[in-house]
Amino acid sequence: MAKSNILALFLSLLMLSAAAALDVDVTKHGAKQNADISQALRDAWKEACAATTPSKVLIPQGTYQLSPVTMEGPCKAAIELQVKGTLKALTDPANVKDAGSWVSFNKIEHLTVSGGGTFDGQGAVAPSECEKDDYCKKRPIVSNLSFNAITNSVVQDVTSLNSKQFHINVIGAKNFTFQRVTVTAPEESLNTDGIHVGRSSGVTITDSKIGTGDDCISIGDGTQQMEINKIDCGPGHGISVGSLGKYQNEQPVVGIRVRECNISNTSNGVRIKTWPASYPGTASDLHFEDIKMNNVSNPILLDQVYCPHNQCNAKVPSRVKLDRVSFKNIRGTSATAVAIKLACSGGVPCEGVELADISLTYTGPEGPIKSECTNIQPKTSGKMNPPPCIASATPSGSAIPGRRRLSFNF
Ligand SMILES: *[C@@H]1O[C@H](CO)[C@@H](O)[C@H](O)[C@H]1NC(C)=O
Ligand SMILES: *[C@@H]1O[C@H](CO)[C@@H](O)[C@H](O)[C@H]1NC(C)=O
Ligand SMILES: *[C@@H]1O[C@H](CO)[C@@H](O)[C@H](O)[C@H]1NC(C)=O
Ligand SMILES: *[C@@H]1O[C@H](CO)[C@@H](O)[C@H](O)[C@H]1NC(C)=O
Ligand SMILES: *[C@@H]1O[C@H](CO)[C@@H](O)[C@H](O)[C@H]1NC(C)=O
Repeated sequence: MAKSNILALFLSLLMLSAAAALDVDVTKHGAKQNADISQALRDAWKEACAATTPSKVLIPQGTYQLSPVTMEGPCKAAIELQVKGTLKALTDPANVKDAGSWVSFNKIEHLTVSGGGTFDGQGAVAPSECEKDDYCKKRPIVSNLSFNAITNSVVQDVTSLNSKQFHINVIGAKNFTFQRVTVTAPEESLNTDGIHVGRSSGVTITDSKIGTGDDCISIGDGTQQMEINKIDCGPGHGISVGSLGKYQNEQPVVGIRVRECNISNTSNGVRIKTWPASYPGTASDLHFEDIKMNNVSNPILLDQVYCPHNQCNAKVPSRVKLDRVSFKNIRGTSATAVAIKLACSGGVPCEGVELADISLTYTGPEGPIKSECTNIQPKTSGKMNPPPCIASATPSGSAIPGRRRLSFNF
């Protein structure tokens, strides 16, 4: 008797919750395989977003086309976009015109994007292809995923493939986690940063695999308390803070922790880059720890004379102040002899830079392996290979403010 009562209660609870949770399948809104499903997705999103109980938009297995869509919040309750299929950006420029990005999520709290599916931007193009013919023009104008003002949310188990330009752009986020995400584009593709984060706090990227033609992860101004761990990065340009200082009114970068990553076949490992002749800015509390380099050209790089294509006057020092930066337990192989390069600003020299337990090797013809420093004498401890640099770039005895040996505590 008691048993069946409990069972009845359990069943009715189950039915209640089944009735409460709303699942909206895009195929119920007319989505068909190999056709543009953007309208169906918009309709399904609208329905789910208006629900007062947690709801889910489902894109089932199969291949679909998608022209630019925006999933707009705020929603009434938690919402999930479960992508099991493959979404392909349209390659006909007539359909892509001026959309800021391909798939956007705006102003949403408690968003989950999941499902094991793929966002295929169909946009990664080798520069040689562009020169040859109109190939570039036939690609989507943009095919990135952008997350704007997202709070308390998660993106997990999805793949971004061959985006044109940035793959995933995160701006204005608070408490936002990416886990088990795969980002792939050819090494020779242009400007295909994997995940770019700016003006956000509490973003975590973990357990992910990123290989592109540019930075695996780039961290823009205004990023605070960001955790990057267990990333398999490469090919590409490594993990970068910056570039900073190019624009006016950039906000500080504070509290970035990069840990337990493998970086392979990249032009840089862990890097901080700021523009010379720049606007003022700061980046502080940046810590890189337990990183395995595998055939990386510049494993450890502070580059305050970052000036691609000579767009700036590299002789005017950067005005971005770097403070409290550490590199600890970094090991593996360098593809060039200069495995550690710390080029700090002569105007606002870096402070509190610490290196500990560095174990890098180089076997090429330009050896032996070495460190180079400008306007900085880092504090070192533990094993150091290459050996620490001697600050030779500044004349001895010259009084450059901040060029002191500094110790700091975590
Ligand atoms: C990506 O999307 C953003 C909108 O979030 C847009 O401003 C940007 O131009 C797009 N392209 C790149 C390269 O980020
Ligand atoms: C951060 O977001 C996650 C995912 O939605 C949530 O579970 C967690 O409670 C949030 N943390 C805070 C401090 O709000
Ligand atoms: C890094 O590589 C090691 C093997 O060398 C592997 O055990 C580990 O899981 C890898 N970590 C990541 C985040 O890829
Ligand atoms: C690095 O590149 C080499 C040569 O292309 C390749 O064989 C190797 O698998 C790559 N390593 C990783 C970890 O991607
Ligand atoms: C090292 O990385 C470069 C790309 O940066 C690649 O071309 C080369 O094949 C790699 N070498 C090895 C031994 O993996």
